[in-house]
Amino acid sequence: MPDTRIMFVDDDRDILAMVEQYLTIKGYDVTTVDNGIEAVGIVKEKEIDIVFTDYKMPEFNGLELLVAIKKYRPQTEVIIVTGYGSMESAIQAMKFGSYDYLQKPFKLDHLRLIIDRIVEEKKIEDKTQLIRKIARERHQYGALIGFCPKMREIYEVIDTLSIENPMVLIQGESGTGKELTARIIHNNSDRKEHPFIVTNCSSLNKETKTTNETTAHLSELLSSVNGGTLYLDELSSLSSATRERMTDLFNKTQNGANLPRIIAGTNHDMDEIIAAGAVKKDFLDLFNAVFIKLPPLRERKEDIPLLINHFLYKDDPVSKTKIYGVTPSTMDILLKYHWPGNLIQLQNVIERAYAMGVKNTISPEDLPAEIRTFSTISNLG
Ligand SMILES: Nc1ncnc2c1ncn2[C@@H]1O[C@H](COP(=O)(O)OP(=O)(O)OP(=O)(O)O)[C@@H](O)[C@H]1O
Ligand SMILES: [Mg+2]
Repeated sequence: MPDTRIMFVDDDRDILAMVEQYLTIKGYDVTTVDNGIEAVGIVKEKEIDIVFTDYKMPEFNGLELLVAIKKYRPQTEVIIVTGYGSMESAIQAMKFGSYDYLQKPFKLDHLRLIIDRIVEEKKIEDKTQLIRKIARERHQYGALIGFCPKMREIYEVIDTLSIENPMVLIQGESGTGKELTARIIHNNSDRKEHPFIVTNCSSLNKETKTTNETTAHLSELLSSVNGGTLYLDELSSLSSATRERMTDLFNKTQNGANLPRIIAGTNHDMDEIIAAGAVKKDFLDLFNAVFIKLPPLRERKEDIPLLINHFLYKDDPVSKTKIYGVTPSTMDILLKYHWPGNLIQLQNVIERAYAMGVKNTISPEDLPAEIRTFSTISNLG
């Protein structure tokens, strides 16, 4: 990459002349210096991306120069050039933060390979850092990632919910983030010090048979939530008996403090549920429900790069992970795919790559077959 700034330090002027000529022809911005003291002066004044320094020089040796450069410019990569057979000094230099070492006599091609490798890595690093910075600053709400217009609208709704306390109905396909959204609503409310409890509606039906049992079970559940939030998963499977008991309990405990806030999630269309009689409108009216509709991933593809980055670093925020990102061709495939399993499916792709021991970047062949071939099929079509 031509605008990369390189400095080469060596007390041998012949080597300097040769390197300068070669790198200038290749289009790099190159500075050559024959002693360490002058080199430090230049680094203080001007930002240099990569420094090659001879190890053995009079006055200031390469190791001392390395330490001095890192002090002023920690981002600058330093490569120690050592004489033949001085492996020990090379190892020592690596311990002090040298990026690599180059052994004399070296081929000019080899010099250039090192430069290109550093430039490539920096590009990846910059991009990842940029994406993470953007994600932190504007494109997320708590742990909810995404900056598409629909998600931004949802963030605004969540903001209003931190003051008001109505029941919330979250509708969205499987894996679109219903439960996570419910948690975030809870964490942003003044109930956040109280429990957040998840109950699956079908298991709620199963556990009780008689009316009394249902009522007892429900009151127990409500008291365990203790003024926190109860997340009812898959509201459409709530039986009418359970629903009626719940409505009764809420009506009876009108003034009883510590009633939980109810947030319910469903994969189904709300109108369909009401039409099918699974949920009665009065049940929703009782709680003055607010609706949130989470978009499927295929309708918010602009969030895919952010989400990939989020899932890559999720379990390792220190970023000492081995996967930086995905290759451009992988990104093309991921952007084309229709994601029936939504965010869970995308998360699985990343977790699978880690489990397979993928290093650096995820290539198309690291993707599950159904995703890889989907792209080929749709390309043919
Ligand atoms: N906007 C988002 N940003 C980051 N991670 C998300 C987002 N939405 C969902 N996730 C993650 O995706 C996964 C699925 O989310 P969640 O379990 O909330 O979905 P769901 O809609 O409840 O799914 P299901 O219908 O299968 O129960 C979780 O690991 C969650 O942390
Ligand atoms: Mg869920």
